[in-house]
Amino acid sequence: MNLLTKAVRGTQDILPADSYKWKFVQNIMLNEANLYGFKEIRTPVFEHTELFDRGVGDDTDIVQKEMYTFNDKGGRSLTLKPEGTVAAVRAVLEHGLLNDGVPLKLTYITPCYRYEKPQSGRYREFYQFGVETFGAASPEADVEIICLATTLFERLGILDLSLEINSIGCPKCRQEYRSALKKYFEKYRENLCSTCIVRLEKNPMRIVDCKNPDCQKIAADAPSIIDFLCKDCRLHFNDVKNYLNGAGITYKINPKIVRGLDYYTRTVFEFVSSLDSNRNLVCGGGGRYDGLIEEIGGPTTPAVGFGIGIERLILLMQSQGIEIPKPNRCDVFIATADKSAQAKALSLSKILREASFYAEFDIVEKSLKAQLKYANKINAKFLLVLGEKELAEKKAEIKNMDSGEKFVISLDNNFFIEVKNILTN
Ligand code: HAM
Repeated sequence: MNLLTKAVRGTQDILPADSYKWKFVQNIMLNEANLYGFKEIRTPVFEHTELFDRGVGDDTDIVQKEMYTFNDKGGRSLTLKPEGTVAAVRAVLEHGLLNDGVPLKLTYITPCYRYEKPQSGRYREFYQFGVETFGAASPEADVEIICLATTLFERLGILDLSLEINSIGCPKCRQEYRSALKKYFEKYRENLCSTCIVRLEKNPMRIVDCKNPDCQKIAADAPSIIDFLCKDCRLHFNDVKNYLNGAGITYKINPKIVRGLDYYTRTVFEFVSSLDSNRNLVCGGGGRYDGLIEEIGGPTTPAVGFGIGIERLILLMQSQGIEIPKPNRCDVFIATADKSAQAKALSLSKILREASFYAEFDIVEKSLKAQLKYANKINAKFLLVLGEKELAEKKAEIKNMDSGEKFVISLDNNFFIEVKNILTN
């Protein structure tokens, strides 16, 4: 085939053979969020660029290297959402949602765009499921969303994800930590990558997060933020751990988690698969971001949330052999032996569909043999064949395709009642 063009690198088509898996996973996600009181929010695919520069942080890889930024025809600089949190915060403030009282709990499923090197599980367009709680500073709020995520994984049958947590403190305790980190990394300046040399001045915490193997080796022995937490941050972290213990959630403390976005404070966490030993494809992550709302122009408001990459989650489920229920089978395929039966097939399908049964009939004028083959291919539960004889007698045979059992039904006013009895028995 001489295709004009193909899908853009790093993007994926979700074909019918997979789209039902997405629907299944997304329904479970939104239902779970609903059980915790999260209401869905939808924000535009693009926003003014400064929102992400400021919100995600201009020292981050996302802002420096990965954003899809363009000028629209009106000369505005716009950016395709690289993540869901900042856009949700913008919408919350713009529409005064915090005025209705707190906590405000929002959930979303959104496409995100990052110009990363594509590989399995890493795309330039991907989908995030996220939850965000606004107005709750308590450690209970942190643990509530972690509970949500762990129950969600359980419902999806995923057993392999482990929870890793850390606290990266508040701006107060981080000041001292940054100086200690700077002092430490300064000794290895020559061996750091060029990006990290710049980070050394601007934001040495980003070096801990660098993917360059040389920087990672150096960062392995860097001072740990946990040793620099102020009293309040330490208490908050202790409470988080205690509540997690109380909820029976197992976790590991990983002082190396700093997260790739600048807005985090205090609790941060990630869900990592044992198959992902070099943490290339972290399945989900989040944390507290008590300063972001103010940064974007709102009132001081604590907040906490997480995001899970849907592609990574589905890949993980597949790698673990977790079966996702197949979509509903076709209830009845109405085959026609000749053209005269087409109008009847159409009206009977309409009756069944209006009553929420999944019905199909031939719309491409196939031979009867080809129609039967198609009914098999779509795995129809019942087959009804209509022809001149059936129309004349106002009766037809409906066959259970699994058992081979046959029933005679009328094609007059009793059609629906009789078919319904057979389909629902
Ligand atoms: P994040 O860790 O940057 O956090 O992204 C969340 C999840 O999105 C990742 O754990 C991963 O599953 C998925 N993801 C990220 N990049 C890609 C990619 N290129 N291809 C496929 N999946 C990807 C955030 O974005 C925060 N907004 C999470 C959050 C919400 N924090 C607080 N509230």
